[in-house]
Amino acid sequence: MWNERYASTEFAYGTEPNLFLVQNAKLLTSPVLSLAEGEGRNAVFLASLGLDVLGVDGSDVGLAKAQKLAASRGLTIRTEVADLASYEPPENHYGSVISISAHFPSHVRNKLYPLVERSLKPGGVILLESYAKSQLSRNTGGPKDIDLLMEVAELEKQFSNCEPTLAQEIEREVIEGKFHTGLAHVVQFIAKKK
Ligand SMILES: C[S@@+](CC[C@H](N)C(=O)[O-])C[C@H]1O[C@@H](n2cnc3c(N)ncnc32)[C@H](O)[C@@H]1O
Repeated sequence: MWNERYASTEFAYGTEPNLFLVQNAKLLTSPVLSLAEGEGRNAVFLASLGLDVLGVDGSDVGLAKAQKLAASRGLTIRTEVADLASYEPPENHYGSVISISAHFPSHVRNKLYPLVERSLKPGGVILLESYAKSQLSRNTGGPKDIDLLMEVAELEKQFSNCEPTLAQEIEREVIEGKFHTGLAHVVQFIAKKK
């Protein structure tokens, strides 16, 4: 499904980075792991700040576009095609992990998030924005399956070894490509590994 979505030369979520990421990028340090990087807009932005980024995604078509986008701006990003349902990032390795509009079933989150927490170095930061469960009835973007949508309380529980500096559900205007357009309920979470 994702390879199909990314098949056109157009960028499904645009080439500009996610707004929440832009607002908080100063908190991030290398190396950065970007979960479900897609077509590269966020990794390329972080590379432009001088950060070393690995973007992981299940779509080889998306990551090929990510590499092209980086090259077109004279930047370098690392990419890896992998299924995050069975992905095991190295322990105590990352300065930051970002997760932007990366929606997984709860059984995948239950396995992946503890591994993500473990992959952060002490003081490392997890930064996440996703559509909230309360977004289900809206047609402005996000999955149409409640299990894929997020809640703040779950993140606080999943990342219990991290100190949240921001954990909120807000309504914001998301204008990030044709699939993410309009007023939407999102969960925003930033936490620091203890
Ligand atoms: C809505 S897109 C977001 C892409 C990117 N983070 C952005 O903000 O532009 C969701 C991405 O999640 C990826 N994805 C979904 N499930 C995945 C899985 N199990 N393993 C790896 N990637 C996955 C898809 O390939 C897709 O690129």
